[in-house]
Amino acid sequence: MKLLFLNGPNLNMLGIREPDIYGRKTYADLEAYIKQFCAENGIEATIFQSNHEGALVDAIQQALGVYDGIVINPAAYTHTSIAILDALKAVALPAVEVHLSDISKREEFRKISYPGMACEKTFAGFGFEGYKMAALYLKERLGK
Ligand code: DQA
Repeated sequence: MKLLFLNGPNLNMLGIREPDIYGRKTYADLEAYIKQFCAENGIEATIFQSNHEGALVDAIQQALGVYDGIVINPAAYTHTSIAILDALKAVALPAVEVHLSDISKREEFRKISYPGMACEKTFAGFGFEGYKMAALYLKERLGK
């Protein structure tokens, strides 16, 4: 099973940005965590981070026919990006949304998720573990 893990803007700043909310572990730590649980669970993982909306749209479009599913943390684009929502709808691959923090318990503007509307599930507030929960959900869902 091949999964594409997409991470949006400022997630490359993990460990530095707002540690009270996002913790002290770095983006490299997140990549290592994803790679490890994927190796343990027979999942082939590609991990991509971008600060640019269009690059994330391109990555979603290019996933068609290549990946079995998408795990996406659109970061701030969660709350603004109809383009990412439309890209997920266009490829119609099973997708799961992840957020390190619990966006339902933060500012009002974080309560809406556009990409989430094209995702089968959302795991928010579980830190790094949310990525594993999302991947294992897709593994079960895809029967692989
Ligand atoms: C985030 C939550 C978003 O609201 C925020 O803009 C982020 C990170 C999270 O993982 O908790 O950049 O997606």
